[in-house]
Amino acid sequence: MKRILITTPIYYVNDKPHIGHAYTTLAADVLTRFFKLQKKEAFFLTGTDEHGAHIAESAEKVGIAPKELCDKNSKLFKDAWKNLDIKYDYFVRTTDERHERAVEKFFNKLKEKKVVYEKEYQGLYCTGCEKFLIERELKDGKCPFHKKTPEKVSEKNWFFKLSDYLDEVKKLLEKNESKISPSWAKKEIFGLFKQGLDDFSVSRQKVKWGIPVPFDKSQIIYVWAEALLNYISAIGYGDKPDQFKKWWKEARVIHLLAKDILKFHAIYWPALLLAVGEKVPDEEFIHGFFTINEQKMSKTLGNVIDPNDLVKKFGVDATRYLLLSQFPFGQDGDIQQERFVEKYNADLANGLGNLVARTLSMAERFGISYDSNYKSYDLVGDDRLLYKNALEKFKLYEALKIIWDSTISTCDMYITKNEPWNLIKTNKKAAEKVIHSLLHCISEIADLIEPFLPETSEKIKKQLKTGKSEILFPRI
Ligand code: MSP
Repeated sequence: MKRILITTPIYYVNDKPHIGHAYTTLAADVLTRFFKLQKKEAFFLTGTDEHGAHIAESAEKVGIAPKELCDKNSKLFKDAWKNLDIKYDYFVRTTDERHERAVEKFFNKLKEKKVVYEKEYQGLYCTGCEKFLIERELKDGKCPFHKKTPEKVSEKNWFFKLSDYLDEVKKLLEKNESKISPSWAKKEIFGLFKQGLDDFSVSRQKVKWGIPVPFDKSQIIYVWAEALLNYISAIGYGDKPDQFKKWWKEARVIHLLAKDILKFHAIYWPALLLAVGEKVPDEEFIHGFFTINEQKMSKTLGNVIDPNDLVKKFGVDATRYLLLSQFPFGQDGDIQQERFVEKYNADLANGLGNLVARTLSMAERFGISYDSNYKSYDLVGDDRLLYKNALEKFKLYEALKIIWDSTISTCDMYITKNEPWNLIKTNKKAAEKVIHSLLHCISEIADLIEPFLPETSEKIKKQLKTGKSEILFPRI
């Protein structure tokens, strides 16, 4: 049984977190909790990306030093994850001393292996994307994402010999030794191989806020090259060889990310690792992008949703549920806030909440308490395996569907069919068995929902033990 390292992208600290960031981080949290419950050793890494031109620009706009902005906003990410009951094992910040040292070590290695070279470069740089764009990517001369005219930059940079590693990266992907899923993402990457890819610059001359190239202090390390290195700096690449061996070399490394940063992760990152002779990630799972009422989430449109607001309105577990139950993980989707209330009432207040409440109240009336040894009907059946298979394939949405549309729904139908409140009058034994079977199933539901709704799972287990029911999700 291999131990698992599971990561999220590290998020830019130019602003506070929104539900886009929360979405990936929650998914990683659920998967880590699931793996840990399966008795696997797992490590969940997340953090913040704090260098680069656009962070410096954001700090300047509010008149503070970049580091001050980073400290402030990085904390907002940590706070939000706490509010969402997200339990990471390590939070990396790229302004951490140990990250900076690890990055220097990695860059010295690149130099030693002669895979970086100096070149005069001219290009169009978008600070919003933190990357060079090519003419045909522009729309009316502007970056299609940030609607800004990119800056014409002409400077000397250090370039990485990407071309030397493309074949090898491609082969690894083809053989699934480094796996990209879902299949649409893999297709996209193979499309890029076909188009051809240039060597890329790993340093910048005019940017001030970043880590200097250790062998050329006139240059700052390109923020993307540095950010990718968080995945190894955080687990000891620079300073803890044993830990690095344990969680990188000998672990199953899984990166979660959205499609916006696929190229960096699926091509540049493995190439950089190959160049210094390190193992490439085992798997990258790419999820889609969601819109809010069919529109891109953006400050200008004023439709950015703060996960903390959702927690205030719905509570922690309900927020976790609502964000992950909208559409399949791995596909694009749309979020409609009005649907949150509807879904909350239908699935949580009614669905799960009601099932637990009415079962416990019948049990109390009939004088029955939960007994794990009682030989009852198995109402869970195949759902157990289906759920496990779904989560092992990162199918979070499908796993929730199995619990709600099958397990919970089976219980509801079982109650309707047996009418235990009538049955108790004619056949006490049979009615008792019905209640015991339901209690059993609810106890298993509490286990199944644990990675998703940890607090609710605990509440249900407690209610089963004490026989006292309390409202889990008050109607909104
Ligand atoms: N700092 C880089 C990542 C470096 S990783 C070595 C970055 N940061 S970011 O703050 O822009 O975060 C991008 C990530 O946030 C996406 O890949 C995705 O995980 C998440 N999302 C941001 N907006 C999202 C949506 N609207 N929908 C889904 N996920 C979203 O890029």
